[in-house]
Amino acid sequence: MLNNSDEIILGIDLGTDFSVCGVYINGHPEIIPNEYGLSMTPSVVLFEDEMKSVAGSRAKGYSLRFRDSIISEMKRVIGLKYDEVSERVKKYFPLGLDKDEEGKIKILVNFTNNFKRKLKNEKQISLNINTNITPIILDSAFIIKDILNEGNCNLETKKELKGFYPENICAQILKTFKECAQKYYNKYINKAIITVPADFSNEQRECTKKAGELAGLEVIQLFNEPTAAALAYIYNYKDYFNKEKKLLVFDMGAGTCDITTLKTSYYDGKIIIKILSTSGDQNLGGKDFDNLLIEKFLEINNFNVDDLKQSKNHLLHYRLKVVTEKAKKLLSTQDKIIIHLEKFINLYFEDLILTRNEFEDLCKDLFEKSKNLIIKCVKESGLKTDDFDDIILVGGSSRIPKIKNILKEIFKKSEIHDEIDPDTIVALGAAILAGGKQINENEELNREFIIEDVVSKSLGIEVRPNKKFKPLIPKNSTIPFEECELFTTYY
Ligand SMILES: Nc1ncnc2c1ncn2[C@@H]1O[C@H](COP(=O)(O)OP(=O)(O)OP(=O)(O)O)[C@@H](O)[C@H]1O
Ligand SMILES: [Mg+2]
Repeated sequence: MLNNSDEIILGIDLGTDFSVCGVYINGHPEIIPNEYGLSMTPSVVLFEDEMKSVAGSRAKGYSLRFRDSIISEMKRVIGLKYDEVSERVKKYFPLGLDKDEEGKIKILVNFTNNFKRKLKNEKQISLNINTNITPIILDSAFIIKDILNEGNCNLETKKELKGFYPENICAQILKTFKECAQKYYNKYINKAIITVPADFSNEQRECTKKAGELAGLEVIQLFNEPTAAALAYIYNYKDYFNKEKKLLVFDMGAGTCDITTLKTSYYDGKIIIKILSTSGDQNLGGKDFDNLLIEKFLEINNFNVDDLKQSKNHLLHYRLKVVTEKAKKLLSTQDKIIIHLEKFINLYFEDLILTRNEFEDLCKDLFEKSKNLIIKCVKESGLKTDDFDDIILVGGSSRIPKIKNILKEIFKKSEIHDEIDPDTIVALGAAILAGGKQINENEELNREFIIEDVVSKSLGIEVRPNKKFKPLIPKNSTIPFEECELFTTYY
């Protein structure tokens, strides 16, 4: 039972596609269900105007109707400068990206009066939604019918473009978690641990922290996603870790791929988790597979991918996103899929029939990138592939069979584990870390694990006259790490 004096700290996995929130309560970690009773909340925000927004599952329900006011995938650009974002990623923001005077990214949003009116009418519906009711499943056919009946796809009325920093948008997701958890436990909550890809830079981390602060949360720690997953795994199989083990975490979600190697040892009743190396790619995730499928479908139908950006085609783009993702997921369990789009306005489409082998061939560059990342990470750990006891699968895209096959080929002597749900394992890890920091929480938890994480990128300073980067703290140094060097002012 929760006492009034017990503190709750949220453990949040802020994902590209879905975010998950966990807490450590009554001696174990658990995931908090969102307003629809689901453990995964879409990382989607819908703006009514500059001041008002709707986030999560409810916002996703409006994806099609208000595409100009709805933003997703902000994690892909948080903390980045405009020039650091690839053209491919820029293409997938419906109204594009803008930059401020310092070159920092702003995501463009379009407010429409039409939307405000619509939302007002639908407030009545939302009131009837409570945690026990079956969630709204996005049925594209239904929504398309709805749109066509309205005869109003483009919302051209009274446009008002405005740019938002990605952290402002992420804050809306975090705020829904804070509110949902407060309601669920009937308790004031103002602290959180937020997970970030291990490969995130300092700026990306700072902006994630800022998102938490904007949501009214004190971010007591940022926690690397693969390390969080490793902690959840080790916590679950504590007894197995009474001797030294070597693990590799493979985490592929919607936008990023992160790989981490670690060693556990057992000393004086404590499990010591020492991260050895970490490698990541922030442009390697489920969305990249979906985009290749979309491009293939368009290619056989002689349709240009750039044409999808035009507002008249946004409905087509949305439908393609939905069907290709569905098809990709089906290919994880069956050998062949047919991507079929019914006649759409005046367009007829040829079906794309794809076997799993053909899909693997289409995406071979992405698989090759994943393989190279794994090999690089193992090399940096100083271990050999045969040294690893366990491989832990994390993130929705780790369900792709080819990924498992690549791992099996590389790690012939290791066991591959997906027993803990790859969708929620990161949030569970964050909740366990949070539990150890809660006042009045079981002291044992605090003493049980010692985590020694590393810096994922070399840190240093720029030195004159040739403006060269001088690394001071090399990549994969264990934190905390101290280094002193004397530099003089340059005139
Ligand atoms: N069975 C499956 N087969 C293939 N892909 C899948 C399957 N299930 C989910 N996915 C993909 O996993 C991705 C979502 O995974 P997840 O929720 O772990 O990502 P995320 O945490 O939002 O992203 P990130 O960690 O990159 O920020 C989507 O691209 C989805 O299509
Ligand atoms: Mg993730």
